[in-house]
Amino acid sequence: MIKIKLSIVFLFFIIITADAQQHNFSDNYVVPSDTLVQQKLAHWQDIKFGLLMHWGTYSEWGIVESWSICPEDEGWTQRKGPYAANYFDYVKAYEKLQTTFNPVKFNPKKWADAAKDAGMKYIVFTTKHHDGFCMFDTKQTDYKVTSPNTPFSTNPKSNITKEVFNAFRNDGFMIGAYFSKPDWHCPYYWWPYFPPKDRNVNYDPAKYPERWNDFKNYTYNQIEELMTGYGHVDILWLDGGWVRPLKTVDTSVEWQRTIHYNQDIDMKRIAAMARKNQPGLLIVDRTVSGEFENYVTPEQTIPHEPLPHPWESCITMGNSWSYVPTDKYKSTNQLIHMLVRIISRGGNLLLNIGPSPEGDWSDTAYSRLLEIGKWMKVHSEAVYNTIPLAPYENDNVVYLQSKDKQQIYVYVLSDNNTDEVALPATLKLDNITLNKKSKVVLLDNPSIKISQKTIDDVSTLIIPQKNLKNPLRYAAVFKIEHSL
Ligand code: GLC
Repeated sequence: MIKIKLSIVFLFFIIITADAQQHNFSDNYVVPSDTLVQQKLAHWQDIKFGLLMHWGTYSEWGIVESWSICPEDEGWTQRKGPYAANYFDYVKAYEKLQTTFNPVKFNPKKWADAAKDAGMKYIVFTTKHHDGFCMFDTKQTDYKVTSPNTPFSTNPKSNITKEVFNAFRNDGFMIGAYFSKPDWHCPYYWWPYFPPKDRNVNYDPAKYPERWNDFKNYTYNQIEELMTGYGHVDILWLDGGWVRPLKTVDTSVEWQRTIHYNQDIDMKRIAAMARKNQPGLLIVDRTVSGEFENYVTPEQTIPHEPLPHPWESCITMGNSWSYVPTDKYKSTNQLIHMLVRIISRGGNLLLNIGPSPEGDWSDTAYSRLLEIGKWMKVHSEAVYNTIPLAPYENDNVVYLQSKDKQQIYVYVLSDNNTDEVALPATLKLDNITLNKKSKVVLLDNPSIKISQKTIDDVSTLIIPQKNLKNPLRYAAVFKIEHSL
């Protein structure tokens, strides 16, 4: 009897842990039924590499995006500076940043050209973050970049979202609007009658349905503005997953334990309107899962294995999403390895850069993109239009294949401590059997003759060391034409 009980408990434990692991990235993924969405999603999966930008008035203080006005006792919400001692004084000063926001160096064409040269093919831009400040010309509030209260409003490029979208669209990018569902400035979300307690709505929507309804309309109207006044949009990237129906809250996920109220924003209505204006639009209702999360977005992390649905890792080039003057940027080597590992598991990389209050990126950001671009020019055929190939990665060797499975790409990554790839004299291929017709080319050095041999029953590349063009940097790629 005891034995049976124990095994039931054990089984239960296994189910719970398996379930909790799944929650890391996805659950209940719903394949979109709209064929236009399917097509756009397939195209988006082929282009692999995008740019995320977090930009708002918070850049003036060089602090975390929005979170310092959230009254939660967490490391990243910590207030700093002269107003930090008193929450309400702080929020007042923070919101006053609107009156000094004047990014006169704003030149989105410069960004688009640099991103394009690096091989990026889509952009996601913060039209509104959690603090509610709108980087577009909304009619729903004056807390926006185009308000007369904001000095930049007199600039011909004041409708920043429009300018960013146009510049990147001109460079052939897919266009994504980041939009925060929660809004910590809107009186229908944080009702000034009560003090805010945490990131959530600060009243019970069931008790004050009219106020919540006003919030639903506020959100709907803003998204409608973005979907109608800003040209062709491909992705609606909705952040702030705590705004969701209570029934979808998953208390096994730690951050969702604070969600006590039903915050149903009526995604069905929003999605219908958005797709009427932007047919085939990808909607990314982050972390909520279900029919309005067309792809899943692990944050600052790379899954170990391919996921059973479309996904994208969003990762910062520095440590912060927002501009922080002293931020430490990842090396080109780290960034290229991230990209390679992500695509080898079938994902996309959405790499974030935070613009400064003057409206430019740091020199480091440009130089990283330039270096990535140089590497991409040699290797891009092994990046775009690829799909995973088991074993994905083994001992710094990464495997991918072209979508039509005619080409295999074997990446040899550099050592972590140096940028240089040390190609061995022989490279045993894991799980790949070559035949006499297989043709091998080292993309980095196509003139060199790579032969192959079977050693201990394993297909092995023989790499002549003599004529190697050195140094090979970041990651070298063997292309194997492999029509069987
Ligand atoms: C996190 C941050 C949020 C940021 C987002 C981007 O959720 O809290 O500020 O916008 O990541 O993925």
